[in-house]
Amino acid sequence: MKKILLTLILITIALFTSIPMNAKDKTDNVVINTILARRSIRQYHATPVGRDTLMQIMECGINAANGQNKQSWEVRIVDNPATMTQIQDLMVAGNTELNPDMVKGCMRGAPVMVFIARDLNYDFSAYDCGLLAGNILLSAQSLGVGSIVLGSPVRFINDAENSAEILRILGYSENYELCLCVGLGYAAEAPDAKPRDINKVQFVD
Ligand SMILES: Cc1cc2nc3c(=O)[nH]c(=O)nc-3n(C[C@H](O)[C@H](O)[C@H](O)COP(=O)(O)O)c2cc1C
Repeated sequence: MKKILLTLILITIALFTSIPMNAKDKTDNVVINTILARRSIRQYHATPVGRDTLMQIMECGINAANGQNKQSWEVRIVDNPATMTQIQDLMVAGNTELNPDMVKGCMRGAPVMVFIARDLNYDFSAYDCGLLAGNILLSAQSLGVGSIVLGSPVRFINDAENSAEILRILGYSENYELCLCVGLGYAAEAPDAKPRDINKVQFVD
């Protein structure tokens, strides 16, 4: 018994003294904890995400910093399973040279897909869309909703033979180009943090 107690004490001391700060460590700062806890989710429960929750997330999205407050994005949310299937089927039909399962699977089974288009008339619009997506990921995380940024559906839609037909469903204005997707839903997995290289960040004295 004494041995077990001693081992437990030693483990506790080791945990508090020798492990450097990493993504799993908690602080008392909710924003930092939310940022460090977010992971890309590739397995989702089929449970729908309520539209009130989605609108709260989108409110955070559109409050992102953006060049000259041009809000050079257009956002389309697909949460209707029938529309999602319609889009996926069209993506498969328009990419005949690709494996249909791979094309369908590129949405990672997320029950909600956010399609973000950028204004081609503004040179910084891709950054605006990226920052919007970042706010979507973090606000979703804070509300217990899992998320993932997806580039492959953008390719499979923009490069598809029937691209115009798919984009018509999304109904963007002229001069807008699909540039990023974000999948949302309740997570059915809890992946570990992927390693990050802090050496890519350096102070210049
Ligand atoms: C621009 C961009 C495109 C991405 N495209 C995909 C994708 O097509 N499929 C996918 O599974 N993950 C995609 N991801 C997710 C990344 O793989 C993921 O963010 C990265 O591996 C780091 O893992 P983490 O988000 O869990 O920290 C994309 C992320 C970004 C930012």
